[in-house]
Amino acid sequence: MITWAVLAALLAVAGARTKAPLIDESTRTRNKAAECVFGKQVRELHSQWIPDLGVPIGVLYCMKCECVPLQKKRRIVARVQCRSIKNECPEPTCEEPVHLPGRCCKTCPGDTYDADVIQDIIPQKVLDDEEKSSTKHYAALLTERSSLVLRNDFGKLTSNNLNKNNVVATGRFTFHKKNLYYSFYISDKAARPRSLQFVDSEGNILEEFILSRAGGLVNSLYQNATRKVCGVWRRIPHEYRKRFRQEKMYVVLVWGVKDQAEFTLSGQVMKYAALGTENFSSLLEPAGTNGLMAGAGGTAIVSISTSVSTSIYLAIVFNGLFAIDDIADVPINVTLSVDDKRFILQDVAIVKKPHYELNVIEIRSPVTSADLRLLTRGRLVLTISSVSKPEALRLSGSVLTKVTCEIFQTTLAPSASEANGYGTSGLAWLYLNNEGSLVYNVQIDNLRTTPDNTTFITLVDVSTKRRTELEDLTPTFDFINGWANGTLVKLSPKVLEPLYAGNLTVNVATPNDTSLIRGRLVPKPVADARDAPAPFLLKRENYTLPASAVGLAWVNVDTDCYIHYDVSLSGLGSERKLELSLELLPMLAPGAPVITRHLDEFQGNQVEGSPVNALTREESRRLDSGVGFLKVKEQDTGITLLVATVRHVGVPFGCQLATAPDGVTDEPGGPTGDCLYEGKFYQEETQWISGANPCTMCFCQNGVHNCFTMKCPPVNCTSPQNLMEVPGECCPICVNSTTQMETNRNVPQKCIFNGQPYSPSSKFRPFLIPTGFDNCTECTCDPIYLEIKCKRITNEKDCCRNCGRVDYSVNGTFPADDGSTTGVEGTRTISPRPPPGPSPTEVLLKGGCKNLYDPKKPYPNGKEYHPLIGSLGEYKCVTCKCQNGKSSCWRECDRAACELKFKMKKRQRQGEDLGRKNNSHLCCTYKECKKYRHKKNHRLQKS
Ligand SMILES: *[C@@H]1O[C@H](CO)[C@@H](O)[C@H](O)[C@H]1NC(C)=O
Ligand SMILES: *[C@@H]1O[C@H](CO)[C@@H](O)[C@H](O)[C@H]1NC(C)=O
Ligand SMILES: *[C@@H]1O[C@H](CO)[C@@H](O)[C@H](O)[C@H]1NC(C)=O
Ligand SMILES: *[C@@H]1O[C@H](CO)[C@@H](O)[C@H](O)[C@H]1NC(C)=O
Ligand SMILES: *[C@@H]1O[C@H](CO)[C@@H](O)[C@H](O)[C@H]1NC(C)=O
Repeated sequence: MITWAVLAALLAVAGARTKAPLIDESTRTRNKAAECVFGKQVRELHSQWIPDLGVPIGVLYCMKCECVPLQKKRRIVARVQCRSIKNECPEPTCEEPVHLPGRCCKTCPGDTYDADVIQDIIPQKVLDDEEKSSTKHYAALLTERSSLVLRNDFGKLTSNNLNKNNVVATGRFTFHKKNLYYSFYISDKAARPRSLQFVDSEGNILEEFILSRAGGLVNSLYQNATRKVCGVWRRIPHEYRKRFRQEKMYVVLVWGVKDQAEFTLSGQVMKYAALGTENFSSLLEPAGTNGLMAGAGGTAIVSISTSVSTSIYLAIVFNGLFAIDDIADVPINVTLSVDDKRFILQDVAIVKKPHYELNVIEIRSPVTSADLRLLTRGRLVLTISSVSKPEALRLSGSVLTKVTCEIFQTTLAPSASEANGYGTSGLAWLYLNNEGSLVYNVQIDNLRTTPDNTTFITLVDVSTKRRTELEDLTPTFDFINGWANGTLVKLSPKVLEPLYAGNLTVNVATPNDTSLIRGRLVPKPVADARDAPAPFLLKRENYTLPASAVGLAWVNVDTDCYIHYDVSLSGLGSERKLELSLELLPMLAPGAPVITRHLDEFQGNQVEGSPVNALTREESRRLDSGVGFLKVKEQDTGITLLVATVRHVGVPFGCQLATAPDGVTDEPGGPTGDCLYEGKFYQEETQWISGANPCTMCFCQNGVHNCFTMKCPPVNCTSPQNLMEVPGECCPICVNSTTQMETNRNVPQKCIFNGQPYSPSSKFRPFLIPTGFDNCTECTCDPIYLEIKCKRITNEKDCCRNCGRVDYSVNGTFPADDGSTTGVEGTRTISPRPPPGPSPTEVLLKGGCKNLYDPKKPYPNGKEYHPLIGSLGEYKCVTCKCQNGKSSCWRECDRAACELKFKMKKRQRQGEDLGRKNNSHLCCTYKECKKYRHKKNHRLQKS
């Protein structure tokens, strides 16, 4: 059955996302192991569906597909499995069972069998409730002591002993719907790990993310500036989300090269209540290479409060501070100090029952605002030590910006009701680097000059009625290009609290408007699209929209050549049905070919995602070095509402190469074969006149332009004074009484040939693809009938191309050549060539070659032919061969032709007549044949 064949083909391409080896193994990122892709849809592990194969096959109601887990060595991957459910249908219980739409089995009234109806494995309501009630934040401490004993793929225990430097790491995990964002701080002394794995307690890999590029370098500006490791696990299957809730999930950081882990660190992912208010974090490491503390470490979750009085709260997760005889109620000394000299906090916490792997202590203490300032600036060191052996058993680390990878972003706009004559808008994004400094970027577009050019950009706390201005960003504002980029080094602690609480705004004021545009900074996790160096401003395309309509868009491409986008809008309301698309051009130029990629359809003011198919090579090239327009359109009308110009999106080099990953394919027909010439694009197989020189004509073939410059035929003019240049035309005309008469008419009358105008009486040479101007033909614009007449030149002195036959028939084929008639001139009107197009059975199913002069008759693969030159017939001195869609041509002037020519001449002199069958001698001039008098084995080739 045909459906089976098609289904089998479909199933062959379904499965895990395309694995895509790039330039080298280590640059490969995620292998989507934990989900299935069927058609263009991503399916969660354990989900079931009825396959819809689309037109013409449609839905196969008697097939059931499932995304099932499959163990491959240590890895759990997902696979699509489909089976027929027809034979599972129960015997109908009635005489005349009916076939209900959307069902496989025939049913009887009152039947309860519905196994052929696919239901969600878990009802949406259960999922929603789970999401509401379940913990959003998790953390993990990764030390040697907390590590799982992992086996490698060959069943051997992997050794952790290689962690000689006592590397420690800590992770934070935050759920946003089904996506889990992860962040890590890792000891400075460790290089960036190669990969991150999520594993179960048996060490089976449920998901893996490759973290570094070759050499451990980081692509991301943010991850480099913060020394964090950031990313996201999207669409976590329900079963795995449950594991997080039950604290049955572990994370593993892997160093080394593929298949040869140098060492790993792992830890259990746990819930901690303090994570909800975390402002700072600390990674605690043993000092030096102290044997007693080998493999130990800790992390602190630090929160501050300034609401009533200033206070600090620490939740510390650690191991290793216990001596052998520390069995119960062990005191631990906790200090916060500046350079181990000035103590901000000193306290002792009791650990009731010490654990080898994990212990938690909590400290709450009032602090002064001056101390908080020190905290904000990364000046404080947290130390925890054993009270009995304070020097030997000790962990410490700086208190830094919290681990969670986060940026704060906003669009800047007036409110909908405000007048905003110039349509000023903008965006801002900022983040805290690992020194606790606030890095900010503010873009203001269309800010019109006020008389004194004064603009104020400030950070304002809006949690109180007073609207306190906290920081002034104005000094870094570059009025000309509209950017304020900078770093606030000595950040006031007053900024952090409203910043984390979503109560900090960016305000732009001018002398006559205290709040021209503004926006409230919202925290967003960093991963995928938002890991790009900078976002783009989506501006109003349509001025009937309120001035408040503006957007902020992030676009990024991963090493597997998948594009990621993240768009936040404001001022459009939440009702409109919108559509997001990307138009890509090789450059901004007239006629530039456009590739349009539809990205998403959405409602509301936020959309993010990544299409299931990777970028093509051409799309990659254009994103990297061309220009793109990201458009937000209204679905119903197709009207473009907002547009962002997208340039210089860093695309991994491999995506632009011919050796790009499997997933990267060129669109049907390959990259557009358009030609760029004098700043304009011309389509494949079109011809045009150069804008700079009317005598130069070009055509585009296989994406390459070929240009030729015409030498005008001689004009017979009685007096040189009558010779006149015509603007826009190559050849001069001789102005005599006839043409005078013509030009006296009001409407200039011209002949048209191949779409080009020619003045009456003008002479020119026809332009032929692919050989250029035919110097053996002279065309004239008949001044009376305004028709083009062409004739063949037979004078060998003037015409070196083809001094052979001149007569041709109206239907364009060369008649049998008897050589008896010479010097006969024929004329015929030449009409423009029809516009180019594909087909005649898709040019004989791709292997054939286009016939430029008769598109309806392409040449089949393997065919040898003479090119047809215009109305003049076959050009027998050139032979072409069509091979797999490409024509190669050569001239027939070879040694044999020359020898024939010499022989002919000799015999002619002797008055002999030759019964000629072969006319190849006519393809050569004596000049061309000269060399064959001496070099015997040379073969002249032209392609
Ligand atoms: C990474 O950060 C370091 C210091 O923080 C800086 O010197 C370097 O230029 C950065 N590299 C990139 C590629 O941004
Ligand atoms: C805790 O550590 C600090 C600094 O090392 C020290 O001054 C203090 O005496 C210690 N407290 C206890 C109870 O050991
Ligand atoms: C305002 O800016 C414009 C252009 O940037 C400049 O030419 C002009 O001198 C400025 N005026 C003042 C008062 O600074
Ligand atoms: C902002 O401040 C107000 C008042 O202090 C507070 O109620 C609110 O929770 C804060 N956060 C946001 C996001 O508005
Ligand atoms: C500010 O940063 C943006 C984004 O990185 C960049 O495009 C812009 O050129 C910068 N402007 C200035 C004046 O540094």
